[in-house]
Amino acid sequence: MAEDTLTIRDNRTGDEVEITISDGTIRATDLRQLGLMSYDPAFLNTASTRSGITYIDGDAGILRYRGYPIEQLAEHASFLETAWLLFEGELPTRDELAAWEEEVRHHTYVHTNVTQFLDGFRHDAHPMGMLLGAVAALSTFYPDAKEIGDVESRRLQRVRLIAKFPTIAAWVFRHSRGLPYVFPRNDLDYIGNFVNMTFEIGGRHEPNPVLQRALEILLVLHADHEQNASTNAVRGVGSTQVDPFSAVSAGIAALYGPLHGGANEAVLRMLDEIGTVDRVPEFIESVKAGRGRLMGFGHRVYKSYDPRAKLIKRVADDVFAQTGLNPKLEIALELERIALEDDYFVSRKLYPNVDFYSGLIYQAMGYPTDYFTVLFALGRLPGWLAQWEEMLSDPEQKIARPRQIYTGSEEREFVPLAQR
Ligand code: CMC
Repeated sequence: MAEDTLTIRDNRTGDEVEITISDGTIRATDLRQLGLMSYDPAFLNTASTRSGITYIDGDAGILRYRGYPIEQLAEHASFLETAWLLFEGELPTRDELAAWEEEVRHHTYVHTNVTQFLDGFRHDAHPMGMLLGAVAALSTFYPDAKEIGDVESRRLQRVRLIAKFPTIAAWVFRHSRGLPYVFPRNDLDYIGNFVNMTFEIGGRHEPNPVLQRALEILLVLHADHEQNASTNAVRGVGSTQVDPFSAVSAGIAALYGPLHGGANEAVLRMLDEIGTVDRVPEFIESVKAGRGRLMGFGHRVYKSYDPRAKLIKRVADDVFAQTGLNPKLEIALELERIALEDDYFVSRKLYPNVDFYSGLIYQAMGYPTDYFTVLFALGRLPGWLAQWEEMLSDPEQKIARPRQIYTGSEEREFVPLAQR
C-alpha cells in the first residue's frame, strides 16, 4: 500500500478504495469510485483551486503575497507595485515599475457616456450599487474583452480595469455629493489622482502626503486574500468565460454584503448605535445573547489576530495625528479590550479583523460611511484580476458548477388549476 494514500471502506457494502493524498488533500472526485459525493456547504473544508498567489496561516496570523510578508509590503511597496507583484509573481524592476505606472496613467480616462448613466442614479443611491453597475457596464465599451483566450487581450483588460476603477470610484463619490465629475490628471500618481478626483473643489485640493500614504497602505493590505467570498465569485463567474468586467462586477456584488466588505460600514453603524463607552458592556452582552454580531470581529480563516488589523492600528495612529482623534475610536478600543478578555469571544477565537479599524480611518479621511466598501473594492481589484488570470491559465479548471443533494418531492402528476 502506498504511503500517501487513504483507504476508505464503505461499511454498507464492504467495498474498499485506496485514494491518493496530495498536499494534505484528497480529490472529491475519487469518492465516485464508491458512488459517493462530498457535502460541504459554504466550502468549510474544500479547496477549490491550487494557487500560487497568497498564503495565509490563520492560526499563526500570517499573510503573504507571492511569498512576501504583508508587513514588509505595507511598509515598502506602493499599491501599483503590489498589483504588479500579484499579477507577475515577482517584484517589478525600476524600469518595469515606471513602465507599468505610465501604462496605467494612459488608461485612466473613462468614456464620458459613463457619466450619463451615473447621473441616472438617485442622489442617495448606495455607492457600491453604483460601482457594481458602472463596472459591469464597462464591458459594453470594450467588446474585445470577450477574447479571454488571448493573453495580450487579458493583459489589456487588466490595465484598463486597474486604471479606470479609481476614476469610476471617484465619480460615484462625486455623484453622491452632487459635485461635478473631476477627470484624471497625468501629473499625479495613482493614489494622488484618486484622492484629487474625489476631493477637488474649485480646481483646488491640498494633498496630504501622510493621509495619501495611509490610504495606499490600506489598499495594499486589502489587495488579495486568497479564496475569499468575492474572489470566489470572480473565479466562479469568470469560469463561464465571461469578460473580466462582468466577472469583477460579480466580485463587487459579493463584497457589498455585510459579512464581507460591507463589514467596515457595519462597524461604524454599530459604533454609532453604541454611542458612548459606558454602553459597551451592555452591547457585548446583547451580542453574547445572540442579538446581532460584533461587526469587524471573527474570520473564517484567521483564528488569531488578523495581521492586517495589527497594521491598520498603526496606520490609525498616523492618520489621527493629522486629523485629530475620531471620537468613536475610544468605543472601538473598549469593545476590543472587553471582547479579548471575554470567554465567549476567546473560546470561539474571535479577534478583530481588517474591517474593525479601517472604517474609523476612512471616516477621519473624509469618506462617508457608505463609501468604505468602495475603497475595499479598489484595494481588492488586483487580487481579483490576478486570481481570474490564474484560474483561466489553470488546465484543471472548468466551469464552476457544484453538485447538490436533492431534498424535494418525488415525481408527481401536474394538477390542473381548476382542480386546485
Ligand atoms: N460576533 C459574535 N459572534 C460571532 C461573530 C461575531 N462577529 N463571528 C462569529 N461568531 C460566533 C458565531 O455565532 C458562532 O458561534 P456558535 O458556535 O455558538 O454558533 C461562532 O462564532 C463561529 O461563527 P461562524 O459564523 O460559524 O463563522 P464563519 O467562519 O462562518 O464566519 C464571519 C466568519 C467573518 C462571517 C463571522 O465571523 C462574522 O459574521 N463576523 C462579523 C462580520 C465581519 O466582520 N466580517 C468581515 C470579515 S473580514 C473582511 C472580509 O472578509 O470582508
